[in-house]
Formats: sequence, C-alpha cells, structure tokens
Amino acid sequence: MVRTGIYPGSFDPLTMGHRDIALRSLRYFDHVIVAVLSHPEKHSMFTAEERAELIAETFKDEPRIAVDHFQGLLVDYVRLHKADAVIRGLRAVQDFEYEFQMTMMNRRLAPDVDTVFMMTDEEYFYIASRTVKEVARLGGTIDGLVPEHIKAAMFHKVGREGELA
Ligand code: PNS
Repeated sequence: MVRTGIYPGSFDPLTMGHRDIALRSLRYFDHVIVAVLSHPEKHSMFTAEERAELIAETFKDEPRIAVDHFQGLLVDYVRLHKADAVIRGLRAVQDFEYEFQMTMMNRRLAPDVDTVFMMTDEEYFYIASRTVKEVARLGGTIDGLVPEHIKAAMFHKVGREGELA
C-alpha cells in the first residue's frame, strides 16, 4: 500500500529542521507533499510561490517529496489528496500546546485524519523560521540554519547580497 503524508506549514522560509522532518518522514511514507499555506501575510519574508520554489529546490533530488500550496482547511486538502496522515515536527515543549490544539481541532473536523509528530535531529531543535529571519535582518550569521540557496534568497530580501560569496 502506498502511503502519502502531507507536511503542512508556513515555511517562511524552510529551515534545516523542516528539511530534516521531511526527509525523516520518508522512512514511513512513500510520498510526502510539503504543503505551503498560502495566505496573504503582512509580515512574511517570502510569498507562498517563493517559499514553494525554495522548497522545490531543496528537494530537487528527492522525487518522493512534492511541493504544493493550499488554502482553506488543512483537512480538506488532506482528503482531496487521499493522504494517510498529516506530518508535523515537534521541537521542545513550546510546540506542544499549539500542536495539540491544531490536531484536536483537525480531528473534530475530520476524525479520520491523523497527525503524526516527528522530532528533528537534536542539532535543529531550537531553529525557528521567525528567529532565523530576525538574525538575517539584524546582520547575524545563519549558516547551517537554512539550506544555502535559502540563505542567499534571504540575504537578497534583507539587502545583504554583497556578503554572499
Ligand atoms: O508552520 P505553521 O505556521 O506552524 O503551520 C500552521 C498550519 C499551516 C499547519 C496551520 O495554520 C493550518 O493547518 N492552517 C490551515 C487552516 C486550518 O485548517 N485550520 C484549522 C486547524 S487549527
């Protein structure tokens, strides 16, 4: 039986932690769709299209990972794709309450849709898109926190392209 997992998120931008979760999830799913939430965000660094392009580049050598965007309810998107489960990453305790609320709301909306949680490698436990963006904007190093092409895209956004080799 072919198993499909949906890995949804804002991914503004994808970090090494997100990348690790997507690759790890291939141990349990035959196909993974990284699903970028498209909604008009005032404070986002990248548009949904840009985020999806950056993710596609990240997984260009992994045919089992596809990239898409979605609007509306996640559970509707999961059913549309006849996926087997939602995949979410869990870092330290701060993620639990948010994830618990979302999972239980999704379960109420669609009792047949399960969410599976995975933990990143310990070297990525503390990485969050929000803090990586802040460090990039304020002139700090983000080496190793995001893939190199995403670092380059972020530096272009914040006017640091001159620092790229
Ligand atoms: O990376 P994020 O921002 O933590 O991802 C959150 C996401 C996209 C998974 C969540 O906001 C979502 O599923 N949005 C779609 C709307 C929805 O289905 N809401 C009901 C569940 S709370």
